[in-house]
Amino acid sequence: MKLGIFDSGLGGLLIAKSIREKMPDIDIIYFGDTLHLPYGNRSGKAIYAHSERAVDFLFSQDCALIITACNTASAAALRTLQQQYLPASMYKNRRILGVIVPTLETAIDGGHKRLGIIATNHTVETMIYPVELEKIDPEISIIQKKTPLLVPLIENGGANWLPSVLEHYLTPMIEEDAIECLILGCTHYSLLKNEIPSIIGKYVSIISQDEIIPDKLINYFNRHQEIYEKIDKNSKIKFYVSDKTESYCKTADQIFGHSINIELTHLDPVSNKFVIASEPI
Ligand code: DGL
Repeated sequence: MKLGIFDSGLGGLLIAKSIREKMPDIDIIYFGDTLHLPYGNRSGKAIYAHSERAVDFLFSQDCALIITACNTASAAALRTLQQQYLPASMYKNRRILGVIVPTLETAIDGGHKRLGIIATNHTVETMIYPVELEKIDPEISIIQKKTPLLVPLIENGGANWLPSVLEHYLTPMIEEDAIECLILGCTHYSLLKNEIPSIIGKYVSIISQDEIIPDKLINYFNRHQEIYEKIDKNSKIKFYVSDKTESYCKTADQIFGHSINIELTHLDPVSNKFVIASEPI
């Protein structure tokens, strides 16, 4: 069996890459739902439907465990997927994990008391980060900021505009001297982690999920050997997307530092499920 990693688009590739660096032997299948990207501006209902379909595809490809790398999908869909979809599905013994609680745990372990988070509209609107934080440690504060322009700029080669947009979003948080730690609460934002310090200054630390999820996964495997043992260790990795463009493939190659083979899935209109496409479609 395999480890599945799901994101709406590109950002989760950074998490796939960092997991691969830490655990090069485990077999991975990555799925980017590029056909429905961006998730962040959609309704919870739509994000849930897209997420369930993506997870279902990864399970159909023999994934024992899926990491919902996408924060927006974690916010909109994770609990329902774990508590309703899985028990009712043919994949009862499989597992789905998200990224929100592990990210908050890392911020808390770092001793930070005043957190800031930038995330998609939907992630912020669900209040998932403040709500989960309150459960873990109500003494810690969190300021949220919707940053809806970042994903479209990242996905569409808008690098020239990113510094001024980042400055626009981040300056108010910094001016109030309100935060000690900034959570990059969207997989895509890991691509910006080298540009952000020049805006927020060296005294605010940054949490980038590509740097924390691999260790959290190792920790999970240590506690759940039965899942770890199910996953094949042949160092294989496969990439699927629901829509394939030249620019996506180019950025994916840049992220991995070499050319990667990305296969296309096709949304079957009858079953409403993703199936592996025989290109071109
Ligand atoms: N990757 C998603 C996340 O982590 C955001 C991108 C999108 O809007 O689709 O929240």
